[in-house]
Amino acid sequence: MQTKLVLANPAEIETGLLAVLAVDAQTAKGPDAKPDPRLLSADEAIQAAAASVLASGEFKAGANETLLLHAPAGLAAKRLLLVGLGKQAKATVHSVRNAAGTAVRFTKPRAIRELAFALPESNSLPLAACARAAVEGAFVGDFDPDTYRSDRKDVSVQSFTVVAPATADQESLQPAFDEGVVVGESQNLTRSLVNEPGNKLTPTVLGQRAAQMAQQVGLKWSIYSTDKLHELKMGAFWSVSQGSAEPPALIVLRYEPEGVTEGPVLGLVGKGITFDTGGISIKPSDNMEKMKYDMAGGAAMIGAMRAIALLKPKVRVIAIVCAAENMPDGKAQKPGDVQTAMSGKTIEIINTDAEGRLVLADGLSYARQLGATHLIDAATLTGACVVALGMINAGVFANDEDAYGRFNAALATSGEKFWRLPVGDEYAEMIKSEIGDIKNTGGRWGGASTAAEFLRVFAEDTPWVHLDIAGVAWVEDARPYIAKGPSGIAVRSVLEWVRSYHPEPPKPAEEPAPAEPPAPPSYRASNFADTGGGI
Ligand code: BES
Ligand code: MN
Ligand code: ZN
Repeated sequence: MQTKLVLANPAEIETGLLAVLAVDAQTAKGPDAKPDPRLLSADEAIQAAAASVLASGEFKAGANETLLLHAPAGLAAKRLLLVGLGKQAKATVHSVRNAAGTAVRFTKPRAIRELAFALPESNSLPLAACARAAVEGAFVGDFDPDTYRSDRKDVSVQSFTVVAPATADQESLQPAFDEGVVVGESQNLTRSLVNEPGNKLTPTVLGQRAAQMAQQVGLKWSIYSTDKLHELKMGAFWSVSQGSAEPPALIVLRYEPEGVTEGPVLGLVGKGITFDTGGISIKPSDNMEKMKYDMAGGAAMIGAMRAIALLKPKVRVIAIVCAAENMPDGKAQKPGDVQTAMSGKTIEIINTDAEGRLVLADGLSYARQLGATHLIDAATLTGACVVALGMINAGVFANDEDAYGRFNAALATSGEKFWRLPVGDEYAEMIKSEIGDIKNTGGRWGGASTAAEFLRVFAEDTPWVHLDIAGVAWVEDARPYIAKGPSGIAVRSVLEWVRSYHPEPPKPAEEPAPAEPPAPPSYRASNFADTGGGI
């Protein structure tokens, strides 16, 4: 998909389809409060073209609602698509991101090749942030997980043009727009990796794909395998991989900006289980095919590293992806086995299906050994996190308030939904082993927190944030702005977390408060971060 930013009157844009946004300005509630759809464009020709359908009540400007008009009078575009953002008071930059995805997903199956997207003209929606979000949303919408379908038609939108008002300032918009391209493409790289089946994307292939990306964007990289795991005494990581005919891959990517020799070194650690059968504690066959996405955390770190390499924050970053296949086999580890992790801690294996924390344990130790001063990990770690938060929010855990605060602040830009869950010494009690130092499961209750607590042991005293993305890495039901399939969750938030360590003072928040912020109910935890966003 080719993308460009133009400053023009939307009515004068010659294109197959021009998308214009609308909000529902109705503030009254109750059965008699009819929707009051209003276009977010001051252009008179566009207002005139949409006037009759807006008056008809057929289009309510609900979030991601669409209405198509052909041959709109007075417009150079062949078609005019109205896209709703929902209630005016709740419309945010994240609604614009989704609306752009909706417009692309509307356009694609109709084989319309060119789409122009008019940025909203609204005081509460800052243009630069909208330009970035729109192009990100367009990439998100353009992705379909259909690489292995022979009947796949090449109906991708070929050109996506973001149209800013003619009076806007190109110098402030262009960098934001360019950033959106990088972020959108990086998120889609992650999604394409997550979509690959286990037979095509083995740990070795994941390593090759990471190296290829690193080469393209100028990152340093090393891809290691079995020998290196033994050399580093990564007994926990190796224990997962020992039951598979596929060798593991220890993927290391380094971003070292020129002239930066001081300050933090950020360690990004990703779970890269290219297929999780559960091992000897084998999973039931129902839905087991989904376990090809058990490398989504690792893929998110690879996507984030691509964006980091291209956006060049002034902070050093190391990414470590621990890739392995979790298989049952004559050589596979067994419940009751004791493994010695790289840190020296001994782990009693209770359930071989709790493998993610094993590979991450050594990944975290290795990141520390390589000099990471701050850690963040991403993993499809527990079904318990899905039970707790559903497929709406991912879980976030931390041992450090500053590192967590930066992540929470990053959500305002990324629009991704994460909800904090606890770790702490009480959970440590639940994973104490009588045979070794620690056991790899903590029983039935609080499974997301006991898994996180296990990781906390290996983060030791390094500030650390853990993301459990099991419930949101795969979109189960297609939405107007995203296909069913891999979501690419965490790429944007990890990127913004990393950028928060850039030494320059942080930019003022780009997202203004909604016109009428709802009073938060008192039961909400203080860490509540309702970004109003989605994936
Ligand atoms: N990869 C799974 C977690 C998972 C579950 C990811 C659902 C995506 C969707 C993980 O390796 C796992 O199997 N976890 C076990 C841990 C248990 C044995 C303590 C789980 O959550 O059931
Ligand atoms: Mn598992
Ligand atoms: Zn797993």
